[in-house]
Amino acid sequence: MRAFILGIIFTIFVAFAVGLGIAEFGLMPTNADTTPSAFETKMASNALDAAMERAAPRVNNPVAPTDENLIAGMKIYTMNCSVCHGTLDYKPSALEHSLYPPPPQVIIDPLDDPEWHLYYAIRTGVRYTGMPAWNKALSEQDMWKVTGFLSHLDKLSPGVQEYWKKSFGTSPAEHHGEEHEEHGGHHHD
Ligand code: HEC
Repeated sequence: MRAFILGIIFTIFVAFAVGLGIAEFGLMPTNADTTPSAFETKMASNALDAAMERAAPRVNNPVAPTDENLIAGMKIYTMNCSVCHGTLDYKPSALEHSLYPPPPQVIIDPLDDPEWHLYYAIRTGVRYTGMPAWNKALSEQDMWKVTGFLSHLDKLSPGVQEYWKKSFGTSPAEHHGEEHEEHGGHHHD
């Protein structure tokens, strides 16, 4: 029995030392210019979804989706988010393949998560990825406005569509039903 327990302790110690050694000898890859494996992507997005499911408060968006607020959300998105998540002219982000994991292209391929989920991701960021925690940089109102904008992409009023078209030369109405499966980080199905 004693030998058995010592054996277990020894095994844990060796596993720990090997892990440290791999890191210390520079064997852990640090480059971000590659795509995570399907296995890693699946594991990480399951872990993220489970953690959010547990931690994120189920709150409703206190900011009404009026034209004015959605246009404000569009501006906040353009200034803070489009560099990673894609611009409103429907071009993928220049950084699409430069982050590990890659940022989802949310204009080309809109997210279908509930608003409390988007808000939590925006507010607290996603650790070990390029997604910043915006609660240090944007007001609560502005985080809700950009949340509202992202969750209304396929149901914008003609007024908001027109503003979009005037500013960026195209609008969601002209891209409806297009498939862009090759873009984006992880997908929820
Ligand atoms: C520096 C790059 C970068 C910027 C800027 C950025 N993001 Fe992200 N964002 C990411 C990455 C990378 C992920 C993917 C994280 C992952 O794979 O879990 C992400 C994930 C997200 C998600 C979660 C998607 C999901 O599937 O749950 C939301 C929502 C989001 N971002 C919104 C925003 C908003 C809104 C802004 C601007 C206020 C923004 N992001 C700015 C890199 C960025």
